Amino acid sequence: MTQPQPIIIDCDPGIDDAIALMLAFASPDELEVLAVMTVAGNVGLHHTEPNARRIRDLCGAKSVPVLAGCPRPVLRAPVDAGDIHGESGLENCELPLARGVVDPRHAVDYLRETVRARPREITVVAVGPLTNLATTLIQRPEFAREVRRIVIMGGAAGDGNVTPHAEFNFFADPHAARIVFESGAPISMYGLDITRQVRAEAAWLKRVERLGSPVAHTAVRMLEHYGSVGGALHDVLAIGDLLRQDCFTLEPCRVRIETEDPEMIGKSHVERGVAPDRANARVGFKADAPEFLSFLEERLARYS
Ligand code: RIB
Ligand code: CA
Repeated sequence: MTQPQPIIIDCDPGIDDAIALMLAFASPDELEVLAVMTVAGNVGLHHTEPNARRIRDLCGAKSVPVLAGCPRPVLRAPVDAGDIHGESGLENCELPLARGVVDPRHAVDYLRETVRARPREITVVAVGPLTNLATTLIQRPEFAREVRRIVIMGGAAGDGNVTPHAEFNFFADPHAARIVFESGAPISMYGLDITRQVRAEAAWLKRVERLGSPVAHTAVRMLEHYGSVGGALHDVLAIGDLLRQDCFTLEPCRVRIETEDPEMIGKSHVERGVAPDRANARVGFKADAPEFLSFLEERLARYS
């Protein structure tokens, strides 16, 4: 029996972030969630931090610390996605507001020191703007060699979802994304090209509702709202990478983040077919959506 892989999740819950957390907490044999870090993104940090605690508590993972990170991007003015996820960030979520105390440690301090103490052991799954990661790298460039891998939901080789060019996480903090992709850290990038292939369709939602647990019900209620915008399970694929990488096809690419051209700011310029020594990320292009959705349903069934 292999040991579960230690991971730290950096998120901005956010409905798809919430489903990603549910999948991670349902997979203790494969994943040891050391902590959940939060960042401003879909909505402000004053919502994303308590939202992470609401989902953690719903999943019965109270012993996992939730840490507040950066409340604003590195440089640009904050933007949000309240129109997609609701003003609270978890539209339709009937969960009680978060109780208990906020962990006093800053997420960046926790991340820097935890990875420093366990070099090449810990994988970071980043599914919001990359502000916390970029801040860590500015403080400690060695982090790029100490982290085992960074699995990112963000970017797109093709069209964006906030502008024609930019995906939300990279648009929200383009300078942070540039710092991360220029750091030399080992990166797997799940951009819109692959995440748009996996959607919470109505028939699948009906099957999940029939699982009958509070977790399944909460997931369905939130996804019913989220589904009105297509219901792509963007962030869930980043956790899926650690559990069912056989469902995904990734290629070594050269990724450059646009921070100068105001029209294209936040765009990830993805060059495919590069020589291995020019690649700075493995980028996802193909998902086996039926297989992954079936797997996700099985894992959500564990809460029943
Ligand atoms: O573009 C999709 C990404 O932006 C997801 O992480 C979603 O939660 C939002 O943060
Ligand atoms: Ca997110």
